Amino acid sequence: MLQPTYLTETHFLNNLDLSSEIEKGLLSKLASISPKFLYDNLGSHLFTAITLLPEYYPTRTEKIIFESNKLEISEALGRKKGLIDLGAGNCQKAESLFHTLLPSSYTAIDFSIDYLKEILPQLQNKYPEIQMFGIGLDFSKYLKLPDPVPKSTHNFFYPGSSIGNFTKTEAQHLLKQIKTEVRDGGLLIGIDLMKEDSILFNAYDDPLKLTAAFNLNILRVVNSLIGSNFNVADFKHCIKINHSLERVELYLEALKDTTVTWADHIRTFKCGELIHTENSHKYSPESIKNLLKSAGFQSFHIWTDPKNYFALIYAT
Ligand code: AVJ
Repeated sequence: MLQPTYLTETHFLNNLDLSSEIEKGLLSKLASISPKFLYDNLGSHLFTAITLLPEYYPTRTEKIIFESNKLEISEALGRKKGLIDLGAGNCQKAESLFHTLLPSSYTAIDFSIDYLKEILPQLQNKYPEIQMFGIGLDFSKYLKLPDPVPKSTHNFFYPGSSIGNFTKTEAQHLLKQIKTEVRDGGLLIGIDLMKEDSILFNAYDDPLKLTAAFNLNILRVVNSLIGSNFNVADFKHCIKINHSLERVELYLEALKDTTVTWADHIRTFKCGELIHTENSHKYSPESIKNLLKSAGFQSFHIWTDPKNYFALIYAT
């Protein structure tokens, strides 16, 4: 049976780095936890469930854009090139491109190498003609393709508006690194567009409370990583729409005065105090083009849906 190649990098985060990152956030005056900690196994499943909600438009809209422009998209990207998937997750979005792009190799990069090791072997078996690589890497910190990944022309794939988690400065830093790595290929990126508040409220604070569960689960992840004693029931999910920074912000609000301890640390939260857990930046076609330009990209092909909810951009 054909097996994917798994690559390790010296720049891998280890558990010590992760713990100190969490501690630093929790001990700040305005407490925060990085959104990457939303995605343990349960968190990944909760996110998948969110994408099935009628209120959560991004995933569905992006899929519609793919399906209505398949031929044009594959023509823009070119066939038989390498495909590098940033935040591959279950690799489904990339797989849906295999038939038209006929990639020569497929490199899945994700924060969770364990999840990739569950998914990639089956995919490799299904597509023996595509050479596959799995890389567990926090690419927001550092992005360089390790040597075994073929140096042939490749396209980067960054769907789902995941870039929305980053501030403009962080996003620019990441896009610059991608631009260096794409060489003569390009970047296919999904971007959530700015829209009415009511639509954002329903998408990020849904009536079934799946987003609330997804957000609160981060406290369980933190408890297991640093040994803290967060009581999930002492917090509630809440969101703010920050118009000046053009983003939805997710928080966990303390429902009463609470003390959390771990190792030799202690953090108290007053009733109503917030822990920031995620930003989801929204763009206009102009603002995303300007950001891509500032990272060195020069030409753009952009596809949107009829309501202009979401955009898919191929930048070179
Ligand atoms: C995976 C970061 C694109 O911002 O819409 C969904 C995550 N957070 N509901 C998003 C998320 C709350 C999602 N991204």
